[in-house]
Amino acid sequence: MQIEGSTRADGRENSIWDDFCQNYPDRIHARATPEPGCDHYRRWQEDLDWIKLLGHNAYRFSLSWPRGARGLDFYDRLVDGLCARGVAPMVTLYHWDLPSRLGSWENPSAAEAFADFVSLAAERLGDRVSHWMTLNEPAWSIMNGYVTGLHPPAIQDLSRAFAAGHQLMRAHHLGLARLRAAGVRGKLGIALNLSPVRCAGTGAKDRRAARWADDYLNRWFLEAVVYGRYPRRAARLVGVNECFENPQPIDFLGVNYYYPKWVAHSKQATRFHLNTSGQEQEKCQFSLQGRMQFVDSPERTEKTEWDWEIDPQGLEDLLLDMHRSYPGLPLMVTENGIGLREDGCSARDPQRIAFVEAHLRAVRRALDGGAPVRGYLMWSLMDNFSWLNGYQKRYGLLAVHPETLERTAKDSAWWFKSVFQPNPRPEISEP
Ligand code: FCB
Repeated sequence: MQIEGSTRADGRENSIWDDFCQNYPDRIHARATPEPGCDHYRRWQEDLDWIKLLGHNAYRFSLSWPRGARGLDFYDRLVDGLCARGVAPMVTLYHWDLPSRLGSWENPSAAEAFADFVSLAAERLGDRVSHWMTLNEPAWSIMNGYVTGLHPPAIQDLSRAFAAGHQLMRAHHLGLARLRAAGVRGKLGIALNLSPVRCAGTGAKDRRAARWADDYLNRWFLEAVVYGRYPRRAARLVGVNECFENPQPIDFLGVNYYYPKWVAHSKQATRFHLNTSGQEQEKCQFSLQGRMQFVDSPERTEKTEWDWEIDPQGLEDLLLDMHRSYPGLPLMVTENGIGLREDGCSARDPQRIAFVEAHLRAVRRALDGGAPVRGYLMWSLMDNFSWLNGYQKRYGLLAVHPETLERTAKDSAWWFKSVFQPNPRPEISEP
């Protein structure tokens, strides 16, 4: 959804994000839409040439479910193109673009429909995909779709959030079962957004608040994925007692890490702040019995323009925590990167190089501490449609020109290559 464009091509249906952009254009920076994205649907061969030229050995991309069976012809060619270039295809099966006809994730038949789509994908791509991720960041889908209401379906209701989250987890387990039944060759997992929770106070109540926050932000979906049940105390508190019929194990855990969360005790309703504009924070309130409060970092750490704290240590802490909590479970950093206000033309991005270098060092320390980290994937290959931020918040190794959509390798792209290969700049001209 973020890169492809061609949202009407080859029978693609609308997703809840297409509807949201049409119905609430003013909620998105500069009224941007996923059209044209990066026009990747048509320029994919050039993009795969870039991937090879920049020395990547893996490429994570998401299937657009609203493209249906015909869309799989496109992904079939894409996967072949990756294999021909010696790049491992890593597939995310759901990245927030629920087909509109299914309504929302509260609808239990959405999980069954997802499982059917997974079977189709497995049949078409199962012989070549190296890693499958069922869902991208279910916690973020729920937090923004049903708690803050900032993303579609723009609901603000905690009990509906838990209901929709449960259907997402059903979809995850059903999807894994379908991949296994199809006998796909790749490893099976999920990409979860995880934030180490840092305690901002010194009292016992603050420490307890931090544990609650960890339970809801991280463990809720972690435990549903790994153990097929929700964390007991947290589930009891919110009256959730659902379980899963046929929970499936994962072969690896995808970790998306951007920043930690600071938490303290408070008797008030929990406030959640999100800066979606690079200007000011949206403040959303929800009640979790006044158990915890998200607060600003008490430390004078550096932040991005979107108030995302830059904390590489958080990545080491997180990976070691996963290693301790789920011993033996292979880990993969499936997203990490920095969003900057760039123009899509300039190649100078020293801040990104510093960010990635510090985070790679954190991965190194986690490996030294025994965490079984199998890979590191940067967000993102190219600047793209960054949800509410439209095209103003850029994450790419490749700059994408706002009008011509021409790709230009940023300094970070060559630097990233040099980390893994000597003499990164090729003699040949760029594609
Ligand atoms: C993550 C999303 C991804 C991208 C990055 C910046 O939450 O998975 O699509 O927008 O944030």
